[in-house]
Amino acid sequence: MKVIVVKDQAAGGKEGFKVFKNALDNGAKVFGLATGSTPVTTYQEIVNSDLDFSNCTSVNLDEYVGIAPDNDQSYKYFMQSHLFNEKPFKQSFLPNGLAADPAEEVKRYDKVIDEHPIDLQILGIGRNGHIGFNEPGTDRNVTTHVVDLTPSTIEANARFFASENDVPKQAFSMGLASIMKSKHLILEAFGENKADAVKGMIEGPDTPDLPASILQNHPDVTVIIDEAAASKLS
Ligand code: F6R
Repeated sequence: MKVIVVKDQAAGGKEGFKVFKNALDNGAKVFGLATGSTPVTTYQEIVNSDLDFSNCTSVNLDEYVGIAPDNDQSYKYFMQSHLFNEKPFKQSFLPNGLAADPAEEVKRYDKVIDEHPIDLQILGIGRNGHIGFNEPGTDRNVTTHVVDLTPSTIEANARFFASENDVPKQAFSMGLASIMKSKHLILEAFGENKADAVKGMIEGPDTPDLPASILQNHPDVTVIIDEAAASKLS
């Protein structure tokens, strides 16, 4: 893993932007995207730039089950407002939170990923070490699947909802096997509350108990963290 430590999330956005620009300059066509507070500065740098994704495809990591794409809590809505409205892609894929048949939706999304192999995937990390919504203990061989969110993830995401009860209890997520297929990965983490997960990911044992530690096995990962998230590294 290549680890870049920056002062704060604003500086991290600039580093993340450089990785996107470099990938685009080198012919990347398919970008795996994440939501949450972590990638917003990278997306902002992209929005403020002249990068052009109109010939590119995006494939998002995950989406809540039971939430309509136009609901302002959906990941679709997040992507529209943080990136796609300003930087449209030729085509953008997310799981459909309202899919009538979740098993079929999982198959459809696996096919999307197979047909559009991801050149660059951006990831955040949960306080418990999850990536996508692959919670601790997730089988590493699984591709897209429906996940029961853990109490810790529900609590962490409650800040975006009126109350904790409104947070969806399930999500569609790319699996760890899907994520590991991406050619290049960037993982960003900012803030002291990510420091334990970052330490486990980089220095801890490679274990399903900390899903992000699987990235130790990937040949091309750039980790962009601020000083607070790096504070527990030895
Ligand atoms: C979001 C995602 C999650 C988040 C993680 C960190 O698409 O897949 O794994 O990256 O929960 O969330 P934030 O960035 O809000 O701290």
